[in-house]
Amino acid sequence: MIRCALAMLALLLAACPAPARFAPPNRVAPTDAASIERGRYLANHVTVCVTCHSTRDWTAFGGPVVPGTEGRGGESFTEIFNLPDDVVMPAPNITPHALASWTDGEIQRAMIGGLSRDGSALFPSMPFTQYRKMAWSDLDAIVAWLRTLPPQDAALPQRDLVHRSLKDITNLFPAPASPPRRVPQGDSVARGRYLVDAAGCAWCHTPIDRGGWPIPGRAFAGGNRFVVKPPGGGWSHAPNLTPHPTGLGGWTREQFVGRFQRMGDGAATKIETSAGGFNSLMAWEAYSGMTAEDLGAIYDYLMTRRPIEHVVPRWTPPEIGPRKDL
Ligand code: HEC
Ligand code: HEC
Repeated sequence: MIRCALAMLALLLAACPAPARFAPPNRVAPTDAASIERGRYLANHVTVCVTCHSTRDWTAFGGPVVPGTEGRGGESFTEIFNLPDDVVMPAPNITPHALASWTDGEIQRAMIGGLSRDGSALFPSMPFTQYRKMAWSDLDAIVAWLRTLPPQDAALPQRDLVHRSLKDITNLFPAPASPPRRVPQGDSVARGRYLVDAAGCAWCHTPIDRGGWPIPGRAFAGGNRFVVKPPGGGWSHAPNLTPHPTGLGGWTREQFVGRFQRMGDGAATKIETSAGGFNSLMAWEAYSGMTAEDLGAIYDYLMTRRPIEHVVPRWTPPEIGPRKDL
């Protein structure tokens, strides 16, 4: 991923690039109930827009969304991306209060192209590089649902990247995209792959090199570490999801689906985090709302990957520190 790459890349940049300029795609979001429902499902349980663009409760397992804050923005990811402490970068408000004057195409340009309405570059913690692999019909459906959110006025600080190097790097990511036309139907493995892309599983579960880029040949092998937000502590490590026995090799499809479903219906909110104790960076509650069919398709896809041997602890406590050898 991008995190520790930033400082290193900055050294290589001589000039300050401006973000690429391109027009918003010419899209009009549908207004029918089925599309809105599809958008709700995706935004809450697959692409997890809501997980980032709201307030999360880090006293509970996986940091579930605080009810009533959906889409209001505010959550910050600077620690997760190892950004300097002085950077201010809240996830913005995406309720109609903020987006009413945006066209559907402008929202889509942010989602898949990485430009804000005024053409400024979004930092790639907004997963636009993932969402451009999604079908137009799904992107349209998400916009349709966003339009139905209750408007909420949240006073959020302005983004301030502070460092020139960070601004330069942010400008490198926006690009026009041509998403596929359709969601794969029927073939469970193809569908699983599509969902894994949309849900950004590889973001955390594929290890990165010291420059911050995915290590070739190590997809889904796990090992990335994330600072656990207070009141928890220590480091949460993303495990191996390949079919090797050190990954998901011993798991049945039912066990995999069940692992997610166990966190549904508010179960995650009832697992409290102790001060300095284990918590997961994975949005279990959000993903638990995927259908058994979709979760099963994700399993089917992961099982087609090359098995990679890699033992990863899920968590290391503050007194031990992060495992650097993974
Ligand atoms: C991993 C967290 C994360 C997820 C998931 C996420 N976003 Fe974002 N999003 C952000 C952050 C952080 C920014 C602000 C980046 C910046 O300021 O440079 C942002 C920016 C945006 C913007 C631009 C708003 C503005 O005022 O410029 C829109 C629109 C947006 N996101 C919509 C979405 C939608 C729709 C989804 C789901 C399909 C989504 N986001 C998923 C973190 C996320
Ligand atoms: C924000 C980072 C992040 C994202 C995104 C993410 N995970 Fe995880 N995942 C983790 C971490 C950290 C753990 C270890 C802690 C735990 O068990 O919750 C984990 C644990 C797991 C486990 C349990 C493995 C075990 O051995 O107990 C499974 C299964 C899993 N993730 C699958 C997925 C799938 C499938 C997706 C995409 C739908 C996904 N993850 C997305 C960070 C992430």
